[in-house]
Amino acid sequence: MSVITETIAPHGGTLINRIVTAEQKAEFLSKADFLPKVQLDKRATSDLVMIAIGGFSPIKGFMEEQDYKGVVDDMRMADGNPWSVPVTLSVSEEVAAPLKEGSLIRLDDPDGNFVGVLELTQKYTYDKTHEAVKVYRTDEDKHPGVKVIYEQGNVNLAGPIWLLERADHPLFPSYQIDPAASRAMFREKGWHTVVGFQTRNPIHRAHEYIIKCALEIVDGLFLHPLVGATKSDDIPADVRMRCYEIMMENYFPQDRVILAINPSAMRYAGPREAIFHALIRKNYGCTHFIVGRDHAGVGDYYGTYDAQHIFDEFKPGELGITPLKFEHAFYCTRTEQMATSKTSPATKEERIHLSGTKVRGMLREGKLPPPQFSRPKVAEELAKAMKINN
Ligand code: ADX
Repeated sequence: MSVITETIAPHGGTLINRIVTAEQKAEFLSKADFLPKVQLDKRATSDLVMIAIGGFSPIKGFMEEQDYKGVVDDMRMADGNPWSVPVTLSVSEEVAAPLKEGSLIRLDDPDGNFVGVLELTQKYTYDKTHEAVKVYRTDEDKHPGVKVIYEQGNVNLAGPIWLLERADHPLFPSYQIDPAASRAMFREKGWHTVVGFQTRNPIHRAHEYIIKCALEIVDGLFLHPLVGATKSDDIPADVRMRCYEIMMENYFPQDRVILAINPSAMRYAGPREAIFHALIRKNYGCTHFIVGRDHAGVGDYYGTYDAQHIFDEFKPGELGITPLKFEHAFYCTRTEQMATSKTSPATKEERIHLSGTKVRGMLREGKLPPPQFSRPKVAEELAKAMKINN
């Protein structure tokens, strides 16, 4: 018989559900042709879904100005609750002009499907450079997250949303486990402590090492790769998912690991995004969250451990999820095992670690990364995906 336990409270105390009931859906559909329409991009579409399924609890819609400013300047919403990354719907002045505060807006996805409704409570302009510098720590448009801000519209539309339907993910329906479902699974398994793992890259041995160190001290692992929008040179989500499946089948204890997709888009906001990622996993029911080297970083914008230091800016217990911080892991040729500088005296020459750019370069040239870096079955899968004969 399974043990029923309580899971950790969602951020803000209540798991948000903004998926319409059958009656609400019928009502919105009957109004569909009369409502003013706004087309969402890929990121806003995934934000809509994340809000609706409770992944962004306690947020119920796109942020109003007071929340937006508090989040950008002080990592706090207007009610004082911690939050680190703005969740906004930005449109051009032309699109915003005819929309009236107090009205319902029809939200269409990039393919033109009617996917949601916004109750427009506020329209406001915002300072893009200020947001970039505060949230991304740079105003350079070369930064992929900052580039998105500069390219998006000048007006934020705010207010609560509804999602019309929780459709199955077209590629990974069996891994689509929403926060209410993951919480139920953790309870069912009797897991009191669960560590969440964010990733946007193919799994390598350093990932596996830090995951397994964490697994030594908690009841279960929530392996939660991000499958929303990423920058174009990141490895596509379907290839990454096959690599995680290989790990599940061969190298992880299946009864202690749940593999599920995180539908959000990557921001590449480094430290700010580490907090955001942790709060999302808290909403999925995780008690702990892994933060390794340069978490959610890109290029050289952030210091190696900035995404760990930012957790110290909150009082103990304020975030309600415990970061498990890991140093840069590598394969150590002296001790013949995975290690960090905390556990091995290895010299620089005795450390095997490859950057994502280096690995992509090797795969393009038809070379497989060494087994000390990547499990061979995973490397073969990556090579196959790159259409390389090995
Ligand atoms: S991220 O953008 O999602 O952070 P990635 O998928 O590479 O990128 O990383 C997932 C997690 O593993 C992050 O917490 C990251 O800090 C950590 N990580 C990645 N590589 C290493 C490594 N060699 N040593 C320690 N931690 C690592």
